[in-house]
Amino acid sequence: MSYVEDPGPGRGSLPPRAAFTSDAPALSLNGAWRFRLSPSLAAAPAGVEGEEFDDSAWDELPVPSLWQLHGHGRPAYTNVPYPFPVDPPHVPSDNPTGDHRLRFDLPADWPAGSAVLRFDGIDSCGQIWLNGTELGVTQGSRLPSEFEVGALLRPSGNVLVVRVHQWSAGSYLEDQDMWWASGIFRAVTLLARPAGGIGDYWVRAFYDHTTGLGTVRVETGPNVVLAIPELGVTGHPAGEPLELPVEPWSAETPRLYDGTLATAAERVPVRIGFRTVTISGGQLKVNGRPLMLRGVNRHEHDPHTGRVVSPETALADVLLMKRHNINAVRTSHYPPDPAFLELCDTHGLWVIDECDLETHGFELLGWAGNPSGDPRWTEAYLDRIRRTVERDKNRPSVILWSLGNESHTGENLARMAEWVHDRDPSRPVHYEGDHDCAYVDVHSRMYATHEDVERIGRREDDNARRRDLPFLQCEYGHAMGNGPGGLLEYRELFERYPNCQGGFVWEWIDHGLAADGHFAYGGDFGEQLHDGNFVIDGLVFPDRTPSPGLIEFAKVIEPVRISADPAGIRIGNHYDFVDTGHLTFTWVLEEEGTEVARGVLDVPSVHSGQSVTVPLPALPSTSGESWLTVSAAWASATTWAPAGHVVAWGQLAVSAARAAEPLPRRGPVFRTGGRLVLGAGEFDPATGVLSSLGGHAVHGPRLDVWRATTDNDRGEFAGRPQAELWREAGLHRMQHRVITVDADGEELVVRTRVAPPAQAFGLFADYTWTAFEDRLRLRVEVTPDGEFPGTLPRLGLAMAVPGTLGSAEWFGGGPGEAYPDSRQAARIGRFSSRVDGLQTPYVFPQENGNRTAVRWARWTDPDGAGIRVDGDPVFDFTARRWTAAALEAARHTDDLLPDDVVHLTLDVAQQGLGTASCGPGVLPRYRLVAQKTEFTLWFRAVPGH
Ligand code: GAL
Repeated sequence: MSYVEDPGPGRGSLPPRAAFTSDAPALSLNGAWRFRLSPSLAAAPAGVEGEEFDDSAWDELPVPSLWQLHGHGRPAYTNVPYPFPVDPPHVPSDNPTGDHRLRFDLPADWPAGSAVLRFDGIDSCGQIWLNGTELGVTQGSRLPSEFEVGALLRPSGNVLVVRVHQWSAGSYLEDQDMWWASGIFRAVTLLARPAGGIGDYWVRAFYDHTTGLGTVRVETGPNVVLAIPELGVTGHPAGEPLELPVEPWSAETPRLYDGTLATAAERVPVRIGFRTVTISGGQLKVNGRPLMLRGVNRHEHDPHTGRVVSPETALADVLLMKRHNINAVRTSHYPPDPAFLELCDTHGLWVIDECDLETHGFELLGWAGNPSGDPRWTEAYLDRIRRTVERDKNRPSVILWSLGNESHTGENLARMAEWVHDRDPSRPVHYEGDHDCAYVDVHSRMYATHEDVERIGRREDDNARRRDLPFLQCEYGHAMGNGPGGLLEYRELFERYPNCQGGFVWEWIDHGLAADGHFAYGGDFGEQLHDGNFVIDGLVFPDRTPSPGLIEFAKVIEPVRISADPAGIRIGNHYDFVDTGHLTFTWVLEEEGTEVARGVLDVPSVHSGQSVTVPLPALPSTSGESWLTVSAAWASATTWAPAGHVVAWGQLAVSAARAAEPLPRRGPVFRTGGRLVLGAGEFDPATGVLSSLGGHAVHGPRLDVWRATTDNDRGEFAGRPQAELWREAGLHRMQHRVITVDADGEELVVRTRVAPPAQAFGLFADYTWTAFEDRLRLRVEVTPDGEFPGTLPRLGLAMAVPGTLGSAEWFGGGPGEAYPDSRQAARIGRFSSRVDGLQTPYVFPQENGNRTAVRWARWTDPDGAGIRVDGDPVFDFTARRWTAAALEAARHTDDLLPDDVVHLTLDVAQQGLGTASCGPGVLPRYRLVAQKTEFTLWFRAVPGH
């Protein structure tokens, strides 16, 4: 059997060890390599390993890279299914094979003796030669492999050859939900290994919260001395324990002590974080405090280079996470580039470090043949977890080891856990697939419903072992498209039950790949088998622009909560460790969204888990609707945000809207020249539909219930998709029958029945228009007629206004979009945007951009002329240059082409979002059920400057 189909872990590499740098010489071999892709091993050129082989006609390829993202072959996306026959350990004969060659010289001062060639990641299997000699074969794509090469090196003209196969036996263990793409995708480095140097080390540093003492002992070779100058430690024999007063490390206070490990031959810089992870009383604790995990699942993704993620991009992720109140990361579903974990140490994020393992495709076969229970794969499983733990063991940010993802259960997983328990008892083991928690230390679920979390929180589980473990959701809040909805309710449960310690939203980033004018997803590369846009389910867009989902999540998990209290303003500290001393509290008073005063709020330092109430500041009196917004911001800069970075805010209503003025006299309805005129409005006499307002040509408003379905509306995880039920009912093609247009006297009353073809049910919609000088009042009365099935997408009006009205301004919820179950981040204020800027560019187009709780809004042309709508008291709106139908039909953002009108929706209600794309649907309280509804809107034209 070829090495490609060997289920074992590869061959020839050195035992795994920690990732670290030292003062020993190192040479990066990243850069331009020669490259040739062959459709199969059989078709690959012979003799590539030979030093004399002529590669001058080959292409150049950057290393690190995934070749499919550089014009060689094409990426392919599947979630669960393997894109090849499930015939383990065999792989297709048409196995794309990429030959990589690099000629390199050593620097003049390169020392003789031992040297190690390190590959941080080769996807999926590489055969490696140096100067014609085979070094070995790698498997385990997102894990390092090292080879001893000292005896083979020469000062110049070294030839390094790596033959990479897209598929290998290892591919069966790498069925993660992501792009299939291949290559030497992480760094390649040559490391001189001085005799008497430091081969490996493990800084075992702990913190005793009862005494304030830290302990440190370094497991390493002989004659290594430890120095931690800041702690007065010099020349300390590394292997001997030390105990001394220290400041602990936590994600909130990522205190690291710089030190060195040294022998006569080598110095290794170390950054030591003192912290102790324990499980006690059914809770996961660090330094004695239970954690609340406000986490995300992070895949490594860049829209141009795929899983090749630069240090700058890794830093961008960490900074974005910290700035959005995220405190934890699960490295789904493989160990990340080691640089990422160092950043987690530096800036403070709790990490579940997950092994590179997933065999999900076997689920489609009822798990028959799953490697997790097959002894042929035991060594590969053990090899993978060893390489994970050994590489990352020095990272204080890593608090749990995860065996992998969605590989069912089996003896090989149990063996992995056993190995970890033995090797590193200081960190608990996580694996969601061990449903009985037979070999893991925490109870983990993915996409548990709110009800399930509640049950777990109440400890109503009859599995006694599981019941008594800390509980976390390794995945929840599926962030696909518009959503997730329901995060607030999860937070409430996590806070109610001490054993529920939060979780990790799925997932951090949309894996869209940059294409001409849009981001591509599954199927865009001609894949025969693919899972479409299921790979677009992140809190940030592919270019790392935060989506509304991230803004909502940041608000829901904010570490300080600011709310109204009968005695003033209540400030609750929801940090796990720190007090609020680092924060400055400021207030702004706005009258109808216009600032009238601001100041600093005096708040005593509040301890973690405590709250205080402070009196309201002295405020000037206001007459219109006024809100006091209190914000908590960092007083000085941190490593991850500038001074003034806001972590939390709250709003208190100060004064209500002015009482309505007495209405002026009503104006009459009259007919003239075939038109119906009422105040500033002109109506079509046959349909009663408004056709002009103050000289602006309009169409509508008319009753409208459809929205371009979201991924969650179409989701199949919570019973039959809402979208399917809506379509079946015909809600996307309602017809309007005019019953009467009654235009006598002072009101225009239009009675209609709005109903889908082929159905007996419908909605009566009665519109009553009244003119008060320049304003038109519209009362809408909606009455279901017949047995109305299920929910409605939305309930409101649709209206088209001239395309020149391209600017929007409103007083209400904003600045971003909001939906009933995802609206915590909308504050009341006055906002403005271009109509184009109101769109959220979901990679797969769908309903978006709804502004909620709007008191009034206006849409104007460049001269300021346009249309204003006032709520009575509030409404929701969208404004876009395409119809809901066009939005629904689009597959990529650049399919959306502007009409010559602006389409408005003016709504009284929307169905929530939920997370049925993978998880529970819309919670009952956010479902929109047809019922008798009345609402009022006021329309008027606004003059230009
Ligand atoms: C989970 C899986 C993730 C991802 C997610 C859906 O089952 O662990 O990798 O596929 O579902 O987006």
